[in-house]
Amino acid sequence: MSRRVLITGGAGFIGSHTCIVLLEAGYDLLVLDNFSNSSPEALARVASLADVPLDGQQLQIKRGDIRDPITLDELFSAAAASGRPFEAVIHFAGLKAVGESVEKPLFYWDVNVAGSRTLLAAMDAHACRTLVFSSSATVYGYPETVPILESAPIQPINPYGFSKAAVEQMLADLNSGTPNTWRIASLRYFNPVGAHPSGQIGEDPLGIPNNLFPFVSQVAVGRRAQLRVFGSDWPTHDGTGVRDYVHVMDLAEGHKAALETLLSQGPQHLTCNLGSGDGASVLDVVNAFSAASGQGIPYALVDRRPGDAAVTIADPSRAADILQWRTKRTLTDICRDGWAWQRANPMGYRQSE
Ligand code: NAD
Ligand code: UFG
Repeated sequence: MSRRVLITGGAGFIGSHTCIVLLEAGYDLLVLDNFSNSSPEALARVASLADVPLDGQQLQIKRGDIRDPITLDELFSAAAASGRPFEAVIHFAGLKAVGESVEKPLFYWDVNVAGSRTLLAAMDAHACRTLVFSSSATVYGYPETVPILESAPIQPINPYGFSKAAVEQMLADLNSGTPNTWRIASLRYFNPVGAHPSGQIGEDPLGIPNNLFPFVSQVAVGRRAQLRVFGSDWPTHDGTGVRDYVHVMDLAEGHKAALETLLSQGPQHLTCNLGSGDGASVLDVVNAFSAASGQGIPYALVDRRPGDAAVTIADPSRAADILQWRTKRTLTDICRDGWAWQRANPMGYRQSE
């Protein structure tokens, strides 16, 4: 019988790509999502790409909120009653906009921290104690050394980062307070970008993108006039900020690797960077995207953005050692697949802005 996994936030950018990888590996999934930052259409396309029925046994869908203990209790109870309990949870649901977290800190503590606590309480009550959690390289703040090891200081610089660090701490407390009970992987993603190679699913930010990659894609497709490059005087090879961009399909495979590591090993709390170990500057991304799309990407060099670091690059060796996972796709692959998605879906899953 297939292993069954609850995926919170599975309609979102990283969740939808992970659903495809897990469905193709034979897992049965139930996606819990309130669609606050995603579209049900993403799951319809996931079902079609993975060749499973929409809302059938392999890919069930429940609209609901991780902060609602009744919804969670009903989901876990129904799963147990059907004889197909959840063996694990992959917890993507959350809010991720740094600027919004500064403006609405209570909202971020509510969804990201209280929501995770509510989910953990339901998991514990139903004896489902295997969890893969979406953390972020944002917990490192301004890194003191690069590449960044998991042992680097945790020093967030905004409420979003504090909310991720708080959940990691909650998971560490759970692991040490109830030893030999939980199997937990906290995955610290670096910069997730790109799209499924089919071009059918991808990142679909609401409004004006905050992040580089979707902004560049939208300039290439003609939705935005020009990119603003935040700072050209950083101590990097061309003066622009350097990041560790990870293809979302590599990231999706990282979740499968983490899940299978946890299911095959004993209780633990594992913390892993998911990054490539390579850095690309803003202008490297602009040039690679321009080459992949055949489109000019007009840009203007402007002042640095407050809160940015010069360089963030993962040391990905722990993930290689423990999860047997490393990135396979290059910046060229990222731009080719990102462009395939943007070109075929200029407005994302919506018909208009
Ligand atoms: P996303 O916004 O595309 O996906 C998150 C999903 O969670 C969405 O489908 C949204 O509707 C859902 N959701 C939000 N609040 C919910 C709630 N209260 N109840 C149920 N569902 C809810 O984001 P993503 O890029 O796919 O990120 C997934 C996770 O990875 C998030 O936790 C994010 O913080 C983390 N992360 C993302 C990045 C990144 O740059 N994309 C980097 C590091 C970490
Ligand atoms: N940048 C621009 N112009 C833009 C947007 C970004 O020049 O319009 C630059 C930034 O200054 C930075 C680089 O492009 O040098 C990458 O910026 P992003 O906003 O795409 O990504 P960040 O590294 O700032 O942050 C992202 C997520 C965080 C997450 C972090 C690490 O937004 O939530 O990666 O995972 F924590």
